Amino acid sequence: MPNLLCGETLKTMKDKLNKDIYILAIESSCDETAAAVVKSGRDVLSSVIYSQTVHKKFGGVVPEIASRNHTEKINDIVDEALRKADKTFFNIDAVAVTYGAGLLGALLVGVSYSKAVSLAANLPLIAVNHIKGHIAANYITHKDLKPPFICLVVSGGHTALLEVKTFTEHKILGMSVDDAAGEAFDKVARVLNLGYPGGPLIDKYAKEGKPVISFPKAGIKGFDFSYSGLKTAVLNYINNASQKNLQININDVCASFQSAAIDILVQKSIKACKQYGYGKLCLAGGVSANSYLRQTASNKCSESGIELYFPHLEYCTDNAAMIGAEAYYNYLEGKNIADLSLNAKAHIKL
Ligand code: KG4
Ligand code: ZN
Repeated sequence: MPNLLCGETLKTMKDKLNKDIYILAIESSCDETAAAVVKSGRDVLSSVIYSQTVHKKFGGVVPEIASRNHTEKINDIVDEALRKADKTFFNIDAVAVTYGAGLLGALLVGVSYSKAVSLAANLPLIAVNHIKGHIAANYITHKDLKPPFICLVVSGGHTALLEVKTFTEHKILGMSVDDAAGEAFDKVARVLNLGYPGGPLIDKYAKEGKPVISFPKAGIKGFDFSYSGLKTAVLNYINNASQKNLQININDVCASFQSAAIDILVQKSIKACKQYGYGKLCLAGGVSANSYLRQTASNKCSESGIELYFPHLEYCTDNAAMIGAEAYYNYLEGKNIADLSLNAKAHIKL
């Protein structure tokens, strides 16, 4: 992907900064078909999200069905986003798309669609990393927030602690070596027959329970995490009880799992802020919607004099507005400007 910054004059960048930039953003990495129009990275003129409910009956996302659903919906979703923003393909400045990480077939729908728009309307195409999009969701909610800061990204596919040095430079400090936090929430909820997605349901049941069951914490060396041991411990606990015909207290299981999953995230995030000398911590990704995470992080940050930021709930889980926010800073710096050879990637580095 060409990086245009070296070829671009400082004057061009200043010109871009001096005018409002409207970006149409498209997100289709998993089971949300989403489109948004975002003004200058911070103001959401429209954000339309279609969540595919068809996967509920399977207890998880079925990739092939997700791709087909995106294909059916994407045109209407983009139309609606443009209409709500009072824009057309011909009076916006760029089109941005999530090109990874995610489900390959699902990503390809958004990528192909965006390439067609870019070609037909002669618009620059900005390729956005989904995880960086999650981080940028914070810029929408907190209009004055600027890097540097530490960010904890916790989603269905990723768990990582990062140093966000500038709007476009990130460094990974640690990550999950196996399952992502959200994946563990979903798997535990499935075994408890709570439904899908499991995170919000565990969050709800945990409010009525107490963390009285001792499950292993999800932390390992340094700033890394591991969720497979915790997940297996909870599954064993449930299976043991069912074999012995013992009644389990679902609320307590949820509260105990949640505390083992979340406490360590907060501890390591605070430790990273202190060790690397940062006064700001951001949360991002679907699991940052978790009320216990928000509360615990808020308590621990105020004890340590760290400013805490998290996105408004609607921008925690997958949406296209966050992709438009991230794209804006790439557009300004001429980074990740793609051409028609852009391909989707199931796995990408930050
Ligand atoms: O960021 P996201 O929408 O998709 C990915 O990029 O993966 O995250 C989805 C994940 C799911 O695993 C879902 O269960 C979890 O976020 N999630 C939550 C909550 N809301 C969504 N996990 C815990 N508590 C919540 N309130
Ligand atoms: Zn996501």
